[in-house]
Amino acid sequence: MSRVVVIIGAQWGDEGKGKVVDLLAERFDVVARYQGGHNAGHSVKVGEKAYALHLIPSGIIHPGKTCVLGNGMVIDPIAFFAEADRLSAQGLQVTPERVKVSARAHLILPYHRALDHTSEERLGNEKVGTTLRGIGPAYEDKAGRRGIRVADAVNPELLRSRIERNIEDANLVIRRYRGTTLDAKQVFEEIAPLAERLEPFITDTTAYLNNALREGRSVLVEGAQATLLDVDHGTYPFVTSSSTTSGGACAGLGLAPQKISGVLGIVRTYTTRVGEGPFPTEMLEGEAEIGQLIRERGHEYGVSTGRPRRCGWFDAFATRYAAEINGFDSVALTKLDILDTLDEIKVCTGYRLRGRACESFPAVSQELREVEPVYETLPGWKSSTEGVTELDKLPAAARDYVRFISERIGVAVGLVSTGPERGQTILVRDSALDQWLNP
Ligand code: IMO
Ligand code: MG
Repeated sequence: MSRVVVIIGAQWGDEGKGKVVDLLAERFDVVARYQGGHNAGHSVKVGEKAYALHLIPSGIIHPGKTCVLGNGMVIDPIAFFAEADRLSAQGLQVTPERVKVSARAHLILPYHRALDHTSEERLGNEKVGTTLRGIGPAYEDKAGRRGIRVADAVNPELLRSRIERNIEDANLVIRRYRGTTLDAKQVFEEIAPLAERLEPFITDTTAYLNNALREGRSVLVEGAQATLLDVDHGTYPFVTSSSTTSGGACAGLGLAPQKISGVLGIVRTYTTRVGEGPFPTEMLEGEAEIGQLIRERGHEYGVSTGRPRRCGWFDAFATRYAAEINGFDSVALTKLDILDTLDEIKVCTGYRLRGRACESFPAVSQELREVEPVYETLPGWKSSTEGVTELDKLPAAARDYVRFISERIGVAVGLVSTGPERGQTILVRDSALDQWLNP
């Protein structure tokens, strides 16, 4: 049946999208990404095998599914083939039949990586804490109309001249801040063979997806990064450089808004953030120990950069905002089992700024740094929920916690994840998510 379901992280990323996308992928024909690049990192466990995905949609793990890298993405050809080769060595088929790369997507080239470094160095203690993958500078070139698109790369003369022109400009900055420069010839010689290798993967993915829908196939759209990292709606300037929210899926794939059948939010039962930027419910000082416990139990270290993630309580105020701008029809609540050992669990239900309750999510980062979260404290359940597959089998306090979160964010829960394995999942019958899984 022709349908498009979009999956989006509701917080600052790493909500556990990988597992949920993987569960849904079986029921869809195509899995597509619409923004970002290899700044993302999903880890998916299937039986004994663990796959780390950065650029290639999780659909690759399922035989017979097609994966689309949409026009809104920025693609580093070096990273693309490193990942393709790694996945191939694990027995997956990363072939042009299965992987379609948009001709309109932009390339990340070595000078973007260098510029990501200089940009962070220049910002000093106001740095964003990017993944240093060149994401921001590649989107700057796109918006500045000097970007090199995937389709341009297969024309060697065009590729050479664009690289020469762009490196000349990039070197002005790189020389000033790092005292070194990049050599255009060397960059061209590194990229040209990869561009040639990329050629069979290049597709008009907009036409491909719209045709697929016309033919009655279904598309699962996989967001990367997350709502609060959206360049417009996130905690600017501590954001990524793309539109991560559901609206971005239309622009980043060439799909009209009416084509979107549903939006699923991925909501983790606590919050994390990597990199800099405001984080109202962060566990600091007196709560650092709880933060450390969650970090260890939840393996909260980046898949892409290995950085320890900052940990905090569930923020229902921020997640309600995420639900609104994305239009979540259903949410998947992840990592419930990580909270199993806690005596008490706090949930932020609102912010106060300079003595007054905030009516909406603050637009200004400085205000977000100053807000005082308003908490409600719920009792912990102090027993294992790991691997539980039915809502009724959860301890009463865990069920109450799930219900509380759902009420506060105003979205029905379709799934609760109780462990990293596919089977460690509670599916809520007759939820919107259940209908997407069992149409
Ligand atoms: P997944 O897909 C969490 C963060 C970086 C930084 C900001 C900008 O695993 O959820 P960028 O390199 O994108 O310019 O960095 O965004 N960030 C992520 N945080 N998960 C991610 O991906 C992220 N991708 C980027 O830490 O704060
Ligand atoms: Mg990640």
